[in-house]
Amino acid sequence: MHVMTTTTHTSLPIGVFDSGVGGLTVLKAVRDKLPHEDFIYLGDTARLPYGTKSPVSIARYATQATEKLQKQGIKMLVVACNTASAVALDALRKQFHPLPVVGVVEPGATAAIAAKPGGSHLVLATEATVRLHAYSEAIAERDENATIREQACEMLVSLAEEGWTDGDIATAIVERYLNDAAAEGFAFTSIILGCTHFPLLRDLIAAVAGSSVVVVDSASTTADVVQQRLEKDSALATRTRAGSLKLFATDGVTRFARVGGQFLGTPLSANDVQLVDL
Ligand code: DGL
Repeated sequence: MHVMTTTTHTSLPIGVFDSGVGGLTVLKAVRDKLPHEDFIYLGDTARLPYGTKSPVSIARYATQATEKLQKQGIKMLVVACNTASAVALDALRKQFHPLPVVGVVEPGATAAIAAKPGGSHLVLATEATVRLHAYSEAIAERDENATIREQACEMLVSLAEEGWTDGDIATAIVERYLNDAAAEGFAFTSIILGCTHFPLLRDLIAAVAGSSVVVVDSASTTADVVQQRLEKDSALATRTRAGSLKLFATDGVTRFARVGGQFLGTPLSANDVQLVDL
């Protein structure tokens, strides 16, 4: 009986959620690392963006998304959204205990410190993530010599959602944000992509920032954390076939497929995405 339970548990999918398609960048990194795992991804596109909403609303959305995934049966939750991680991670861990819940802010901070110990980090994120100083706290706890500046960049979410990741307009907007961040002489040595949408703009941001600045995101470090936690819990899938992927969105499945394919690095069609209500 005990063996049955364990087998069932290890074969359950990993639930991943974001406010939209951005979390697919995290999903991609986790799938690349754990190709035998099954995944269910939920993009709350009907309520995107989370980054401009109040913490109360964001926490409620995060709870509803987690409930939806939990009803499907999951063995772990990855909150692949910086805003939801900054606002609701602790609450989700309490509400859904003993479900393991992994966020993206701490892995992002760890990646930045590994890249530039004692560095000057510029965090590009949503308004809500910046308001809560989630990255400042996560970095300061781990590296007391680091300096940090957080810059809200809401327009970058729209550019990524629209798929405008290069060209004059995107370049001008990135330049404007980086110039604002450099005001008062803040000379950053790293840029943390503190929003799951921003890896799509990585090449452009790196080009505008110049070669002396390292650009980091939380995707691969989050994948490491997921793997370590599953190993610790003896919950890694034991199957040898490739894992499956189910995609849910709360609105606009055609758009989700079009833009999400870029994030996931695999073309998607609207038939690959199931419309759900929360
Ligand atoms: N996914 C969100 C994040 O990582 C950005 C988009 C939004 O504001 O909903 O912060």
